[in-house]
Order: sequence, then structure tokens, then C-alpha cells
Amino acid sequence: MHINALSDICGAEVVGFDCGSDFDDATFAAIREAFSDHSVLVFRDQHLTPEQHVAFSKRWGNINGHILTQYLVAGYPELLAVSNKKDDAGQPLGIEDAGRYWHTDVSYEAVPPMGSLLYGLEVPAEGGDTLFASQYRAYENIPADLKDRVASLKARHRFNYVQIQASEDSTRKPLTEEQKKQLVGAVHPVVRTHPETNRKALYVNPGFTESLIDVVENESRALLDTLFGYATDPAVIYRHTWQVRDLVFWDNRCLMHHATPYPADSIRHMHRTTVAGSVPV
Ligand code: SIN
Repeated sequence: MHINALSDICGAEVVGFDCGSDFDDATFAAIREAFSDHSVLVFRDQHLTPEQHVAFSKRWGNINGHILTQYLVAGYPELLAVSNKKDDAGQPLGIEDAGRYWHTDVSYEAVPPMGSLLYGLEVPAEGGDTLFASQYRAYENIPADLKDRVASLKARHRFNYVQIQASEDSTRKPLTEEQKKQLVGAVHPVVRTHPETNRKALYVNPGFTESLIDVVENESRALLDTLFGYATDPAVIYRHTWQVRDLVFWDNRCLMHHATPYPADSIRHMHRTTVAGSVPV
């Protein structure tokens, strides 16, 4: 097994490794180190059953469920379907428009996931890439006076489902009353310290960050927009172009991501697990 960096921003390919195999602790330690160093790991040409995808994910921690239970894979509550496939009745099998905006997975929960593992079962010939933005780099690029301004700020995150559902091509089913009740949102620091690397990363995202706490509305909007500019600067982005049977593992504690559109007549069918994280500090 060896590690090939894919860019100097983030992203590395783990070559010569089968995520479905039994591997020893030394191998796991090497992969963990690569994850700390590169924030996105790409495992190409993996032939994984759903059980193997779940088992590999569990090596990293407990698996979180997802609030949108209607899109979990039948028989596998750990797997969220990100897919534009339909069932026999013409109903979407998964979330078709998942992540079509900059976001950090599930930042609207009090304890957001540390990482996500997305497995590409069918991928389009063009489009449908995933962009990853390093929030370490974004933080580093912020001028000192702005760093001081946001150092102790907190932000409210909320799942803006209604807006997402209302977007032009959304096929999402409405939330149930129970789901609405659970979506209370969360408050997190604007800058978090990664619990393993100890590096600081920006932790606000256009998808779910609603406002800054104790900052008047106009200033909150303006500050967030400025921070989003650093967070999504092309200079901090790595683009992952999918090949079928890629398993991509990314670190939600220091990255945002964004799925790009693809032609409506192609299929993009993926399964995602999310691994439990810790309260951002
Ligand atoms: C997601 O936001 O987890 C989905 C990303 C993707 O489909 O590329």
C-alpha cells in the first residue's frame, strides 16, 4: 500500500489497499496518518458489499443515522442513498440533489460527524464531481484583523430543508412532523480546532450556517459572506472526478464540499456512511 497526494491542498489516493480486506493495526495507523495529512482519501476500484462499506466505516467510529430516513438504503440503516435512480413506482431511491451547494455534512447537529465515506456504485461519464474546500487553508488565508474579529464568535447552523426542497430540480419528499421536531439546529464556534491535528479550521458553511450569535443581522450577513469568500476560494479547492467504485473518505472537521451537476440522462448512484464526531471546539 502507498499514498499518492492528489493535490497540495488536500486529497490523496490510497493505492494497493482493499477496504473490504482484513487488515492489521499498523496498516490502519498508516491510513489514519494519511487521513490526518490529506483530509480526503480516495480508494479506487473497491468491490464492496454494503456490509463491507459499513464495516470499513466502523473502523473509524460509530456510524450516525440520518434525519432523512426515507433515503436510507433498505435493510442498511447506516447507508444513505445519494442517487438519481428511481424505484419501480418511479419514486427516488435516494437524495438526487444531495450536496449541490457548499456545506459541511450535518453541521446543524450538536455533534456533527467527523467524516463521511461515499461509495460510487454508478457514476456519470461527465459532471457529478465533488469539490472539497480545505478550511485549514481558508482560515490561514484570512487577514489577522478578521481572525481576531471571529476568534471567539459562534454561529447558528440549521438544516434549511425548505429552501433546498424548493430549488428548481429538487425531487425531495416533504419532511415529516417528527423530522421537523428533531431539526432544532446547533451553535458552533466559527473557528474550530481539529481534535487530531490541532490545526485551526473555519467552521461556517453557506449550506447550513444561518447567522452569527450576538452580532446584529446586517453585520452577521456581511461577515458570513466575507468568510464564505475565503472558504470557497478556488485556491483552497480540490476537485474529485469520480470513477466507478471509488470510495472517498473526507474529514468534515476541516473541509466543506459541493457536488457539481451532471446530465439528467446519466445515472449517479452512491451510498454514504457518516462516522460520529465530537462537539466542535
Ligand atoms: C454529500 O453532500 O454528501 C454528497 C456529495 C456528493 O454527492 O458528491
